[in-house]
Amino acid sequence: MENQSSISEFFLRGVSESPEQQQLLFGVFLCMYLVTLTGNVLFILAVHSDPHLHTPMYFFLANLSLVDMGLTSSTVTKMLVNVQTQQHTISYAGCLTQMYFFLMFGDLDSFFLAVMAYDRYVAICHPLHYSSVMSPRVCALLLALCWVLTHIVALTHTLLVARLCFCVVGEIAHFFCDITPVLKLSCSDTHINELMLFVLGSTVLVIPFICIVISYIHILSAILRVRTPAGGGKVFSTCSSHLCVVCVFYGSLFSAYLCPCSVASEEKDMAAAAMYTVVTPMLNPFIYSLRNKDMKGALERLLSHRRIFPS
Ligand SMILES: *[C@@H]1O[C@H](CO)[C@@H](O)[C@H](O)[C@H]1NC(C)=O
Repeated sequence: MENQSSISEFFLRGVSESPEQQQLLFGVFLCMYLVTLTGNVLFILAVHSDPHLHTPMYFFLANLSLVDMGLTSSTVTKMLVNVQTQQHTISYAGCLTQMYFFLMFGDLDSFFLAVMAYDRYVAICHPLHYSSVMSPRVCALLLALCWVLTHIVALTHTLLVARLCFCVVGEIAHFFCDITPVLKLSCSDTHINELMLFVLGSTVLVIPFICIVISYIHILSAILRVRTPAGGGKVFSTCSSHLCVVCVFYGSLFSAYLCPCSVASEEKDMAAAAMYTVVTPMLNPFIYSLRNKDMKGALERLLSHRRIFPS
């Protein structure tokens, strides 16, 4: 505990060590960050401005957009500022704060994807009960549950890291304060942290993933039972974009955290982290809007200021 107070900051390695590459990556990340903010803000505005889109699924998507913006902002902004100011430090408190928000938004992303899969399951397998099962009260309750659970998980990890000692000002081999690179710098026993990382990490990622898989098994069997290709295709098109996002998000997460080969290289970890903190949040609003007529209509009206009001 004495040592801990003597450390006031860490070094953050950033995305690359060569200065030229860093300038190039700064440009790339800044563009992606701006596209993410624009895309997600437009998506939220479009959903809220069009009464046709006032359904649970679109409200969940708008919430996902909000969380995606939080996820990118919590990780990328500090890195962009560091490259511009030629500094490589992050304060101890700043590091823990970043870790907390990154964990919370990242876990929320995974919980929201599961809630949306459940929403699709109810819509397709129990269409007659949809409005009673997914009532505004239930939606609000589901969202509140997600926020509370992720808050507890993120706080647990952050407090467990806060009780560690750091004897030297070390360099975090990453572009933000992720747990594993920070644990490597500690000079105290990190067994409990690693255990909790495995237990909570697999719970928070695997349980929503299993819920998604089970939902889609039910959805697929319902579609196959209907046996009308046209009807089935129409129903499934609402799911395909969700499925697309699920694959990108979990693909990068699993390869980063649960793959036993993660000892391999820090670069691979960083690339995977960049995938789910920068690329996925940027792509989400586009994946959901491009193939969707309702969404395109709402966006066009929003951008041309032709609002429609319910009469
Ligand atoms: C999140 O979802 C709730 C309930 O479904 C909704 O009322 C709220 O407007 C959504 N938030 C955003 C930013 O769209």
